[in-house]
Amino acid sequence: MIGALRTPAQQLVTVFGGSGFLGRYVVRALTRRGYRVLVAVRQPELAGHLQPLGTVGQVHVVQANLRYPESVAHAVAKADHVINLVGILQESGRQSFGRLQAEGPRLIAEAAARDASVIHVSAIGADAGSESLYAHSKAEGEAGLFAARPDATVFRPSVLFGPGDGFFSRFAGLARSLPVMPLAGADTRFQPVYAGDVAEAVARAVDGTVPGGRVYELGGPEIRTLRELVEYVLATTERHRPILPLPWSVARIQGTVLGAIDRFSLGLMPKDFVITRDQVTLLERDNVVSEEARREGRTLEGLGITPTAAEAIVPSYLVRFRKSGQFDLRRAAPSEAPDDLAPRSGAEGSNFQPDRASGPAVGQQASGGPRQP
Ligand SMILES: NC(=O)c1ccc[n+]([C@@H]2O[C@H](COP(=O)([O-])OP(=O)(O)OC[C@H]3O[C@@H](n4cnc5c(N)ncnc54)[C@H](OP(=O)(O)O)[C@@H]3O)[C@@H](O)[C@H]2O)c1
Repeated sequence: MIGALRTPAQQLVTVFGGSGFLGRYVVRALTRRGYRVLVAVRQPELAGHLQPLGTVGQVHVVQANLRYPESVAHAVAKADHVINLVGILQESGRQSFGRLQAEGPRLIAEAAARDASVIHVSAIGADAGSESLYAHSKAEGEAGLFAARPDATVFRPSVLFGPGDGFFSRFAGLARSLPVMPLAGADTRFQPVYAGDVAEAVARAVDGTVPGGRVYELGGPEIRTLRELVEYVLATTERHRPILPLPWSVARIQGTVLGAIDRFSLGLMPKDFVITRDQVTLLERDNVVSEEARREGRTLEGLGITPTAAEAIVPSYLVRFRKSGQFDLRRAAPSEAPDDLAPRSGAEGSNFQPDRASGPAVGQQASGGPRQP
C-alpha cells in the first residue's frame, strides 16, 4: 500500500543484518530500485563498505543490537519497511540462538510501525520439533513474528552461495589445507541458492508484489548431496583430495570436540575448521525446498525468479583456491553471470551515466577528438 502511494525514493527500508553476507546483496537490490536504506549494525564504524552500494546519501548506517530493544525501536522508528537478516550459526557469549533467532524477529515486528511491511529471512530446516537449537530457534522466531504480525513475509533459503559465501569457499579453503576431506552428512541433500536471487525475492517483497502472511522456501535449480558438492569444489579448484564420509557417531564426537575447542579458545580457531554438535544435528536432515512449497508456488519460480545455477557464479570466486590461481586459466568467453554488486549503467538507482561521464567517450582519443585513422 505504501509502495502504491509513494515512490521508492520516498520510502525508508531498515535492514537488520545488512552488514552480513546476504545483507550486501539485499542492500544493493534495494538501492537499485531507488529505496532509501538504513542499515542497522552493531558496529557502524565497520560498515563503511555499504555506502558505495547506493548513490550519495542513499544508504545510512545506524547502531543497533537485537539484544537491546531500545536500539531496535530507534532503528525502525521511521521505517516504511523492515527487513531482518540477523542470524548466527553458533552461539558465543551473549550471542545466543534464543535472543537473536527466537526472540529477535518478534522484537523487530513489535517495534515496527503497524503500516510498515515486515520481511524476515529464516532458513530451510526451521522446525520446532528439531533437536538442533539453530533449527528450533528459527522456528520459534517465525512463530513469534507471525504472532506479532500475521501479514509478515518469511523467506527460508537453503544454503547460500556467492562471492564471500561460507559454503563453497569454506570447502575450497579446507581442501587447500587438508590432505583428505572428512565429511559429516556426505549423503545429505542441499539445494544451493544464489544470494542475489534471495535478495531479489526480498526486494520484491518490499515492492509489495509478494503476498505476505506466508513462508517461502528458496532453493537453486539443482539438488545435490554434500559429497557431490564437495566433489564439484575439488574439481573446480583442481585439488585431488579423497573424501572421507564420517559415520554419524564419529561426526557427533567431532562436533562436540571441535565445538568445545572453539569455545575454550575464545573463537581463535580458524572458522573453516569449526563444526559444532548442533551443526552435525542440522546435517542429519536434507536442506531442500519441500514438495508442499513447490506445489503451492511458495518458491523462487513461484515468484517469477529463475534460480541462478551455481556453475554460472561459483567458478569465478573459487579460482583463487587453485594452486596457480587464475594464471593458467584458458581464455574463456566472458561469464554470463550477473554481477549484482556492480553498478548498472543507467539503471534506476544508479548514478553511473556513461554518456555524461567526463573523460573520452568510447571511440574517441583522450584528447577528446574523434579517433584518427
Ligand atoms: N548463509 C547461508 O547459507 C544461510 C542459509 C540459510 C539461511 N540463512 C539466514 O540468512 C540470514 C543472513 O545470513 P548471512 O549468511 O548473511 O549471515 P551473516 O553474514 O553471518 O550476517 C549476519 C548478520 O547478523 C548481524 N548480527 C549478528 N548479531 C547481531 C545482533 N546481536 N544485533 C544485530 N545484528 C546482529 C551481523 O552484524 P554484525 O556486523 O554486527 O556482526 C550480520 O550483519 C540469517 O538469518 C541466516 O540464518 C543463511
